[in-house]
Amino acid sequence: MTRARRALAVLATLAVAGTAAFLLLTRPASLPPGAIPATQQADLHNGEVMFHAGSCVACHKAAEGGPGADRGLPAGGFAFPTPVGTFYPQNLTPDPETGLGRWSETDFVAAMTLGVSPAGRHYFPAFPYAAYRAMKTADLLDLFAYLKSLPAVRAPARPHDVPVVSVASRGVGLWKQLAFRQPPYAPPPGRSASWTRGAYLTNAPGHCGECHTPKDLAMVADESRHMAGGPHPGEAGKVPSLRGLLAAKKYKSVDDLALALSAGEELGYENLSSGGMGAIQSNLSRLPESDLKAIAEYLLSLE
Ligand code: HEC
Ligand code: HEC
Repeated sequence: MTRARRALAVLATLAVAGTAAFLLLTRPASLPPGAIPATQQADLHNGEVMFHAGSCVACHKAAEGGPGADRGLPAGGFAFPTPVGTFYPQNLTPDPETGLGRWSETDFVAAMTLGVSPAGRHYFPAFPYAAYRAMKTADLLDLFAYLKSLPAVRAPARPHDVPVVSVASRGVGLWKQLAFRQPPYAPPPGRSASWTRGAYLTNAPGHCGECHTPKDLAMVADESRHMAGGPHPGEAGKVPSLRGLLAAKKYKSVDDLALALSAGEELGYENLSSGGMGAIQSNLSRLPESDLKAIAEYLLSLE
């Protein structure tokens, strides 16, 4: 073999090994057996609380004038612009052809906690499963039962307008290697029941850190700056810090912040309206008062 041919052979071997390593590293995961408990009486009220806490409809709302739009159903199709392109989050109603009608509980829990589709595709992290993976399985099953209880709307998914979707989608597997290195959020022990509830709602379904926690160069949440605010991940402008809200005299008390989360601009709380926060606030306004107070208690404890 000439030197050039030998070099080519080495390169080819390296390329094969590299591709194999890439495919292995980025292989979509699946749930371990036994991840879904066998019997579970669905609590639809709890499922609805999770639906609003997670602001599902903020991204999965129906396209303007599209099917389901008049009833505010999560029939999908509304444009969700991000720096990598425009997504059209899918139909979450139980239509068998175009929604979640044929999904199993395992399909749903795998989507929400592993970011993997029933066909084994990595979902883009514009779907905030990095936060949702901290949700309790029982809460996810209640949420799924709630979605299945909604009226079915026939609304085929509109393809995402994201360049190089197929390559990028496998690349998401690499991103997950970094992002999932951090364990899912778990509230620390030893706090009051309401603080613990607030911490869970904020960090798991609430996915508040998706905007309020700045990201590092690999676009992974930098938990050393948890809720410290920074550049907006989806558009121009900034997201405010949620630390030290009491010291900065932005809110007087837990009741004051709970009222702000529930009423927003309507009662003159101007700092909860722009940059996607208005949609979050209007979803939060549908939570029970005790949950809003729990979120407020947790937020005001962040120094
Ligand atoms: C910040 C926007 C955003 C929020 C909030 C959001 N999603 Fe999504 N979701 C997406 C995007 C974007 C996709 C598509 C990802 C892809 O195709 O790669 C998606 C996809 C999904 C899918 C897969 C659908 C399919 O047909 O394959 C499910 C299931 C889902 N989301 C459930 C939920 C639930 C339940 C909630 C609320 C707890 C929620 N999402 C909140 C953006 C969001
Ligand atoms: C889509 C990005 C996004 C998400 C997700 C998000 N926020 Fe915000 N948040 C913002 C932006 C942007 C502002 C500033 C809005 C303004 O000034 O009108 C804001 C403002 C706030 C404020 C007011 C802060 C101040 O200085 O008065 C509070 C409180 C708040 N958010 C709480 C939350 C909570 C709780 C969650 C989760 C349930 C959440 N946010 C999720 C983007 C987001």
